[in-house]
Amino acid sequence: MLRELNPGTRLLLGPGPSLVPPQVLRAMATPLVGHLDPDFLAILQDIRHMLRQVFGTQNEMTLAVSGTGTSAMEAALGNLLEPGDSMLACVQGYFGDRLAEIGRRYGAEVERLERPWGSVLDPEALDGALRRRPAKVVTLVHAETSTGALQPEIAALADICHRHDALMVLDCVTSLGGIAVEIDRWGVDVAYGASQKALSAPPGLAPITVGPRARQAIAGRHTPPPVFYFDLTLLDRYWGDQPSYHHTAPISTAYAFREALRLALEEGLETRYARHRENAERLWQGLEALDLPLLVPGPHRLTTLSTPRLPGTWDEAAMRRQLLERYGIEIAGGFGPLAGKVWRIGLMGYSSRRENVLTLLAALEELLSSQRAG
Ligand SMILES: Cc1ncc(COP(=O)(O)O)c(C=O)c1O
Repeated sequence: MLRELNPGTRLLLGPGPSLVPPQVLRAMATPLVGHLDPDFLAILQDIRHMLRQVFGTQNEMTLAVSGTGTSAMEAALGNLLEPGDSMLACVQGYFGDRLAEIGRRYGAEVERLERPWGSVLDPEALDGALRRRPAKVVTLVHAETSTGALQPEIAALADICHRHDALMVLDCVTSLGGIAVEIDRWGVDVAYGASQKALSAPPGLAPITVGPRARQAIAGRHTPPPVFYFDLTLLDRYWGDQPSYHHTAPISTAYAFREALRLALEEGLETRYARHRENAERLWQGLEALDLPLLVPGPHRLTTLSTPRLPGTWDEAAMRRQLLERYGIEIAGGFGPLAGKVWRIGLMGYSSRRENVLTLLAALEELLSSQRAG
C-alpha cells in the first residue's frame, strides 16, 4: 500500500512555480461546483475583471486558458497564424526561441532576429528587420526567464510593429504580477502570462489578453484555428455573456487563481512591484558580496528572476543538489549557452520575501565556505 502523499517541504526560489500563499491553498480545497454553475461563471467574471487590471488593459477578450504558460503561447500563435504567414521572432533567450518553434509548427514562415542571450533588443534593429521583410506577427519576450533580462521600450517596439502593419505578441510569463505590464499604454496586440510565477497560484491557468487589431486578424482567418482546445473565439464565448460548453474548466485551479489575483490587487500592484524590486536588490547585493556578479547589467535586470554568474571551476549542479537536500531550497541552473554558467534564482510573488533572501544567502555562504575549505 502506498502511504499518503507527502512531498518534501521546499523553499521555491527557482524560475517557477513560486510559493503559494495559504489563502490560495485553502481556496483550492473549496468544494467543487460545475463549470456552468452560475456561481462558477461569476468566478470567471471576477478573474477576467482582475486580469484586466494586472495586464493594464480594457481588452474585452481577456481570459485564462487551461494549461501552463506554453498553452497561452499556443493559443496566441495558433489563433493568429495561418500556413504561409510570415512571422518575425525576436530571440535573445530560450523562450524567444520557443515562440519561433511554435510559429513554425503552425505553418508560418519564421524569420529570427537574434541577439546574444542576456541582451535586449533595440528598436532600430526591429525596424530594420521589418523593412527587410514584412511580417504579420512579431514575437517578443518581456521577461526572458532563461537569461534574467527585461526588455525595455515595449511601446516603441509595438509602434514600429504597427507602422509595418505587424501584430505584436508579448510574452509576460515572468513579469505579470511582479513587474509593471501596461498592455494598452504600450499598444501590445496579444500578451500572455502564467498563474504560477509572480501571481503565485498553482500552475494550470495561463492568462491571455487580445486587443482589437488582433481580434480583427482572428475574425478574418480563412480557416479555423488548428487547435480546438485553444480556439480563443470559442473560449471567449464561454468566458463571455453567453457561456456554453467548450471544455470542462479546472474548477479548483480557478478558485486558487481568483484568490491569488485578489491578494495581488489587495496588496496593490505598485506596492507589489516595489516589493519585488526591494527584495531583488537585497539579493543582488548579497550575491555580489559572495563574488557572484550578475549576468545582466542593472538597468535591464528582472526583479523576479536573477542570474548570478558562476566561476567555471564548480560543479554547480552538485551545489544545487546540496541546496535542495540540506536546506530544502530550490533554485535552477542555466539553459543552452548559459548552462553551467549561471544560476536562475526566482523571487516571484509569495516567494519574494526578505526572510527568503536572507535564508538563501546564508545557505549559499555556508555551502561556499565548506566548498572553499574542501
Ligand atoms: C518567459 C516564459 N515563457 C513561457 C514559459 C512557458 O511556461 P510554462 O512552463 O508554464 O508552460 C515560461 C516558463 O518558464 C517562461 O519563463
